[in-house]
Amino acid sequence: MIQLNQGFELSLKQMHRPLSELIYLDASATSPPAPEVLQVMSISYQKAWGNPSSLHSPGIKAAESLERSRQVIAKALGAVPNQVVFCSGGTESIHLALFGTAIFLPPGRLVISDVEHPIVNAVAHKLSQKGWTIQRWPVNSEGKVQLTYLDEILSPPTRLVSIVWGQGEVGTIQPVEKIGQACHERGIIFHTDAVQVLGHKTINWSKLPIDLLSFSAHKLHGPRGIGGFLRRSIIPCQPQFSGGGQESGLRSGTESVALAVGFASALDLMVNRLERNGEVDPLELWRNRLMAKLLLIQGIKLTGHPYLRLPYHISLLVKNSRGNPINGNRIVQILGNKGIAVSSGTACNSGTSRGSQVLQSMGYDEEDSLAGLRLTLGPWHAKDSFSELIQSIYNLTV
Ligand SMILES: Cc1ncc(COP(=O)(O)O)c(C=O)c1O
Repeated sequence: MIQLNQGFELSLKQMHRPLSELIYLDASATSPPAPEVLQVMSISYQKAWGNPSSLHSPGIKAAESLERSRQVIAKALGAVPNQVVFCSGGTESIHLALFGTAIFLPPGRLVISDVEHPIVNAVAHKLSQKGWTIQRWPVNSEGKVQLTYLDEILSPPTRLVSIVWGQGEVGTIQPVEKIGQACHERGIIFHTDAVQVLGHKTINWSKLPIDLLSFSAHKLHGPRGIGGFLRRSIIPCQPQFSGGGQESGLRSGTESVALAVGFASALDLMVNRLERNGEVDPLELWRNRLMAKLLLIQGIKLTGHPYLRLPYHISLLVKNSRGNPINGNRIVQILGNKGIAVSSGTACNSGTSRGSQVLQSMGYDEEDSLAGLRLTLGPWHAKDSFSELIQSIYNLTV
């Protein structure tokens, strides 16, 4: 047995089960790279291994591959290639986009929602130490920012707003187009964290009132270690460290061409899947069926918005038949022992004994906020693979 933190135990056999045997319902934490992605990355490691800044042929080949990947990503998102900035993933992207931009502005007010990923809270904290005031945009019981506060919240001295597009823990989709539009009418820069949205929704950046948009490849069947953001050229941004000046001076460090190639391939696959399905994520149908069955179980309640939610995302509050909340981490452990991988909230918060801040912001009390369960689907599921999951959750509640 391997002993993990918080007494969480998994047998080696369970940890190493192939995906086909595991019921993996934690796509929001990470997703397995698609076979096509692994294939193009392997070719890239073999054939485009040069340093893209070098002037000899291996370097030129690598630079061509890198720029081709940038083009594919830009096209998939309705952007132009020089608006795509690569870095190591969602966390770095949000930090660079938000902090790098804010540092150019005179300190004012930064608005973030009450349900942001911890990185946004961390950047806000850092900016508060530089003279910025931080305004939290409250959410309602479904996790949606309350637009009734819009005028008040966007009044001067608001200079920068960052709102998560698709909330990772409860799945609620925020009205980013409305917020972005309102920001632009007031000369405010708008950033959105689209890490959970990319690949699941058609994005046409050229038509969106969004100045900065962060993403990460490993959430959409791409490799870990690469992400980035879209940035309009009029938005200033300061690099967080200096060096060779790669990525138009915004992010120094020799670029990983194979990761960029893998990311482009993953996004291309996801966007093609959306196109083939009339711009609707095909996972939505399966998600709806599973969600409907789970909600028939007494004691199970949906958290987040009933329909304005990520198409692959189910978030629940689990109580037993006597109405007592069941600890989410315990459920994760019990299901984990059966080869069903789920999470009790965001991967970043799992393993802590604190209640979910996101659920508490939505009005849940501390006890309930420990009973969250998140199931996030991917295209790897066999059609009828959920009966064991439904039975196991039912057994927990009786
Ligand atoms: C909404 C959201 N933003 C940002 C991140 C951070 O992305 P990364 O893991 O690539 O650093 C995550 C990861 O869970 C996320 O869900």
